[in-house]
Parts: sequence; C-alpha cells; structure tokens
Amino acid sequence: MEKVELKKGIYWVGAIDWNIRDFHGYSTTFGTTYNAYLVLDEKNVLVDTVKAPFYLEMLGRISEIIDPARIDIIVSNHVEMDHSGSLFQIAERIGAPMVITSERGEKGLKKHYQKSLKFKTVKTGESLSIGHRTLAFVEAPMLHWPDSMFTYIKEDQLLMPNDAFGQHLASSQRFEDEVGDEVMGQAAKYYANILWPLGPLILKKVDEVVKMGIPIDMIAPSHGLIWRNDPSRIIQAYVEWSQGKTGKKILVIYDTMWGSTESIAKAILKGLIEEGAEAKLLHLRSNHRSDIIHEMLEAKGVLLGSPTLNNGMFPTMGDFLTYMRGLRPKGKVFGLFGSHGWGGGAIKEMRRSLETEKFEIWEKELPVQFVPSSEEVKSAIEFGKEFAKKVL
Ligand code: FEO
Repeated sequence: MEKVELKKGIYWVGAIDWNIRDFHGYSTTFGTTYNAYLVLDEKNVLVDTVKAPFYLEMLGRISEIIDPARIDIIVSNHVEMDHSGSLFQIAERIGAPMVITSERGEKGLKKHYQKSLKFKTVKTGESLSIGHRTLAFVEAPMLHWPDSMFTYIKEDQLLMPNDAFGQHLASSQRFEDEVGDEVMGQAAKYYANILWPLGPLILKKVDEVVKMGIPIDMIAPSHGLIWRNDPSRIIQAYVEWSQGKTGKKILVIYDTMWGSTESIAKAILKGLIEEGAEAKLLHLRSNHRSDIIHEMLEAKGVLLGSPTLNNGMFPTMGDFLTYMRGLRPKGKVFGLFGSHGWGGGAIKEMRRSLETEKFEIWEKELPVQFVPSSEEVKSAIEFGKEFAKKVL
C-alpha cells in the first residue's frame, strides 16, 4: 500500500480490518480500521496504535517511513484494546519511548497489561513542543471511556479525537471525500451504537473546543475515514444527533411466532403510512440490533411488538430492549402491541422494561388473542394512524 500522508510529515500508519463482522456486539458489516498516526519532527511521535493482531501491519507501515526505533514518543489517547493492543509491543520493540496519556489512561493501561512504561500524564490545556510542532491535549472523558483524550496539532490544525467522529468502515481510501455518502451513514451508525448515551457530554465538549478557538482543518479519528474536506460537516452532524433531531420516521420493531404479531405489525405500518409517516418494518431476526439502533437515531416514534412466550416477551425483544436501554435513546415515543394465546404478558414485560429508563410510553396498547380477525386488523390500522397523529 502507498504511504498515506495527511499533512506534510504526518502519516497514517494504521491497519484495515476487512473481515470483522462483530465488534463486541455491533455488526460491522463493512469492517473497520484502527487508525494510528506517525508525526515526524525533532521528536517523532506515534499517536495511538492498533488492535494486537494487526501489530505487524502497523509496524510495516511505520518501517516504510522511518526506522521504528526512531520513535521518541507514543501518545495513547484511549485505553480500549483496539487502540492500545499494540502499544506495549511497539514500545518494547523501539526501546523506552515516553508514553503520553491522561491520568486515567495510565491507570487503565497498567491494569489492562500489568506492565509499566515511562508514562507522562497530561491534562486539558497542556501541550508539548516536538520541534516545529506543538501537540495540545484535551481530556474527553466518556468519549468513549473515562480515560479518553484528544490530541491536537496546532501548526497543522489537525485534531486526532480517537473514537469521536469515527466510523466502522474498511476502505482502501483514507479520506472521506474519496468515498460516497456511506461515510456519513456509517458515522451515524457508529454514533448511535457507541456514543448515543453521551450526547450531552458531546455537546459540552464541542462547545468547549469552539470556545478554545482552535481552528480545525482536518479531523483524523481512530476508526474509518479521515475528515479532510470540510470537517465541520461531521461536527454539525454530531451536534444534531446529540440534540435528538428527528424527522417523520416511525419504526415498527417486532418478532413473531406464528405470524399473528407480524400481521398486526403490517396493519399498523399501513396506518402509519396513511398518516404520512416515513414508516419502516423491522423484524428482529432479520435485522441486527445495531442496525435497528442506527434506524432509531432519527426516528420520532417506535412501536414494539412481541408475541407472548411463557408469560413474557419473546427473547429477541428482551435482547433488543436490553441493548437499547443501555444506549438511552431519549426523545422518542414508544407504543406497544403483541399477540398472545391465553395469559398474555409480553406487552406488560416490554412496558416494565421501558419504564426502568423512564422512556415516554403511549398509554394505549394493542393486544390480540391468537390470530387477528379482520376487525382486529382494522383496529391495528387505526392504532397506527392514531400513533402517527400523536407523534408527528
Ligand atoms: Fe475504538 Fe473505545 O475504542
């Protein structure tokens, strides 16, 4: 692969994970990348590393540019192993580099790897001259872990925010302007599945960075494509997602045993569409939970349907609600429906699950026994219409 120079003397030396399809429960349909960056100056700096199995790939890329032994400093913006997995290997290979990280970063790295290095911890506002350039550090706790921080190169107006602004997207291109619209779609999926609960913190961090008055010409995250052409596009998207901007979208998310809940779901969908909603039907066993969460990002309302199994909700609905509750998608209205044989219980269990996180739930419910009659199908269409009127 050709050397990728972001700015004069600053190179991408990461790795492309073409084949990963499950990233701790997130379906990475298009793979991912682990981005590491090499900054050549009087002191040579490696910013972040790659997941452990990709160590040699990173080492090979560095070796095409300089002898790795000439790296003086490693910056660790984030402890999670997709970025620190090769840190100790490369540090041992090149001698005793200084490792710059946050206070929590040092603690986290020691706990993960049971080893120590020549650490220097930094706080927001601290900077380090490496010759012609200055590295500035901004702590960014919970973006994505408590240890996370951003590194900014003042002279190049280059922000390296690690997990923030990333996308799980493997590509032979390195810059967002070299690929099509899928980059924004994958950035949205990444935001929804990883950063959604942290929306208020993101708004605060964006505001803090704006107030610091630091000009940003390029954003080089730790996953996916680098934002070279108008990086304000992804910053603005993060602001809108954090503010919970929605459209006319309503989702019908369901599972079914013998087709009854599916019949109700389709009738509800008809009602939603008739009222002008951009409605989507999502079967829980045909759509990965992380793709459904992606769909939810700009949805105004969500209707959940489950058959009753052993007095409770269907296991796929339990899985989905457990995942969704952790991401705390606020600002949506939820509605509930389902089919049952004798005792029922699915709707009650779904409601209980949503109540734990204080989601807004429509008081009206649509339970149907066994197979829906034509009257019950009509009621389901009306249920969809009413929900759309309430939500849109
Ligand atoms: Fe890409 Fe939080 O690690």
